This record gives sequence, C-alpha cells and structure tokens, in this order.
Amino acid sequence: MKRIALLGATGSIGRQAIEIVEAHPELELVAAASGTRPVDGLAPLTQTGGDLTELLERAQPDLVLNAVVGFAGLPATLWALEHGVTLALANKESLVAAGELALAAQRRGGGLLLPVDSEHSAVFQCLEGRPAEQIDSIVLTASGGPFRGRTRDELEDVAPEDALAHPTWNMGPKITVDSATLANKGLELIEAHFLFGIPYERIEVVIHPTSTVHSLVRFRDGAALAHLGYPDMRVPISFALTYPERAMTPIPSLDLASGLTLEFHAADEETFPLLGLARAAGERGGTAPCAFNAANEVAVAAFLEGRLSFLGIADVVEEALAAADTAPAHDLPDLVEADEQARRLAERGLPVA
Ligand SMILES: NC(=O)c1ccc[n+]([C@@H]2O[C@H](COP(=O)([O-])OP(=O)(O)OC[C@H]3O[C@@H](n4cnc5c(N)ncnc54)[C@H](OP(=O)(O)O)[C@@H]3O)[C@@H](O)[C@H]2O)c1
Repeated sequence: MKRIALLGATGSIGRQAIEIVEAHPELELVAAASGTRPVDGLAPLTQTGGDLTELLERAQPDLVLNAVVGFAGLPATLWALEHGVTLALANKESLVAAGELALAAQRRGGGLLLPVDSEHSAVFQCLEGRPAEQIDSIVLTASGGPFRGRTRDELEDVAPEDALAHPTWNMGPKITVDSATLANKGLELIEAHFLFGIPYERIEVVIHPTSTVHSLVRFRDGAALAHLGYPDMRVPISFALTYPERAMTPIPSLDLASGLTLEFHAADEETFPLLGLARAAGERGGTAPCAFNAANEVAVAAFLEGRLSFLGIADVVEEALAAADTAPAHDLPDLVEADEQARRLAERGLPVA
C-alpha cells in the first residue's frame, strides 16, 4: 500500500489524481486538502485552507502529491523534501521560487522528487537517472497556447476567456493563462534547471503545437531521446503515483499510422516576452526566480479579474523584476519576504482602477 496525501484535491490535477488512485487498490488516499472548496469525505483526514504541513504531520503519508497552485504550495513542498517523503510535484511555482532551499531540504531528507509536469516527467523518464555530464541539452516543448502565431497588435484586446481556451490541455485558470503568455514555459525552464542540474544555456524551448512530444533529451554521444504520447495529464500523474511500476492507465497508446506529423518552431520571444524574462531571472539567480513567480501570480490574477490587459502581464513582471532586491534567501522567512516584496512591486505596477 502507498499512502497518499493529495494537496489541491479540488483542482484539475487533483481530480485526475483521484481517478488514478481509485483505479489502483495499492494506492490509498489518507489525506486531502484544498484552498476554499470543500473536500470532506474524500479521505480520512481533510483540510481546507490553513497550514497544510499540519495535515501532513497528522497523516504521515508515504507520498505527497502537491497539486496546489502558486507559492501557497511551498511549505508542503519543503515539508515533504525535508522529511524524506516522496514528493510528486505538480506545484512548479514552489520549486521555481525556492530552488536552492528545496534542493538543500531534499539532500537532508534523502527522499524522491518526482516531477508531475508532463515535460519534466518526460525528461525524467528519458534520463533514467543518468548523470548530468552525459547530457548535452534538454528540449522542453510548448504547445504555444491559444495565441500562437499572433502578433502583439492582435493581442492588444484579448480577454480572459480567449486566454482560457487552451488548444491541447484542459487545466486550471492560472496555468492556462501562463501557457498563453509562455510564462508557464519560463517557469518550467527554471524548474528543469533545478530538477536536473542543467545550466540555462543548455535548456531549449521549442513550440510543438500538438503536444505529442512531451520533451526530449540530447546526449553527448549525439543520441536524442524523446517521450511521446497523447496530451493527457493522467499519464505523468500515474507515473509519479505508481513509480517505479508504470501502472496501466486508460489512455490509448500512440497511433503512428493515423497520419501523425511532428512540427516544431522557435518560440516568438518578442511577442511573448515572459519566456525571456524567466530565463533572465533564472540566470540572475538569488531570489529573482521567486520574484518572477510572485509578480507573475499578481499580474495573472489582475488579468483574470479584468484589471490588467494581456500584454500588461509581461510589463508588470518586467518592472517588478527590475526593482526587486534579489539577494539569495538563506531560509524560508527570507524567501517569504522576497515573495512579498515582489508582490508589492507588482501591485504598484497595476493600472489604477
Ligand atoms: N492542470 C494541469 O494540467 C497542470 C499541468 C502541469 C502542472 N500543473 C501545475 O499543477 C498545479 C495545480 O494546477 P491545476 O491546473 O490543477 O490548478 P487548479 O485547477 O486551479 O487547482 C488548484 C488547486 O489548489 C488548491 N489551492 C489553491 N490555493 C490553496 C491554498 N492556499 N491551500 C491549499 N490548497 C490551495 C485549490 O483549492 P480550491 O479549489 O479550494 O481553490 C485547487 O484544489 C499548478 O502549480 C500547475 O502549474 C498543472
């Protein structure tokens, strides 16, 4: 039996995880948490809001699936890593914000960190634990979102509902907007850097509209291994929950003879500047990734509330990053301060109502 704590149980990842758990008798949901929506009866221990580490202390799970959205997922990520409890991580924002602190906690705890993001799950599977020196580069694929191919002029007046219509993935609102701005790929770039110990100049992003190739790894001997499949988050969720068993899922295997073609393009970083801003924040280091994430969370929330234009999201993040003090964080309180500072700077950059 694997005893699972599911954080973010009411969300897109959370609901799909419940489906996986229900299909496998060897998986037991011992705790479930959400932010505001009720989760009563989902598991023996439940919690809505508050400090999720209290729930984890009570549940003492074998695996934490962190599917909370945003920086709010950070304490749970650190708790699992520090306690050596396997962490299945969908909440990329926590690793982006706390990269060095999270890796230090993992070194102390000695547990497994299994990515749930489909691109990173793909890279993890292509790597199979091979050391970083064998890797030439990592290629993260991006669908390009609903606005792929558009010019900046064509993005002037797009509304939240346009950004929420993602072509290949059905996800929660924050990550869907992040996919439309390419901030999601920027977060994933930083996530990949921390997960796989690869410098930024050896992580590439390419646009791949059908999301069939979930990512690939180029090795030093000239070989490139890719991970392919239909875009369905139940595959990486199941991989992480049942690792290393690779349990059966109801997802059909890829039908190559049906006329499948694979198309790749360079990303348009002028129209979608958040990808480049994320890369610059990653390279700057310290708490710059934390500031990038915080400012982006504020800007995306403002866009979804109709207080900021789509193109304004990148402007707000850029200005907040330029003004932020990004000295490294030595502990969680330092990091929380960096997050709060970037949020204040981003709020200041929002148009006056
Ligand atoms: N959806 C995908 O396909 C996908 C793919 C790759 C990675 N991810 C990542 O997975 C994470 C979740 O994404 P999602 O699409 O599932 O988001 P979502 O549908 O918006 O769900 C977010 C979940 O987080 C919970 N939550 C929010 N704030 C919380 C707090 N302070 N304490 C406890 N729980 C809180 C929400 O609870 P309430 O419902 O009560 O608000 C909800 O259960 C994100 O980091 C995202 O980037 C998602």
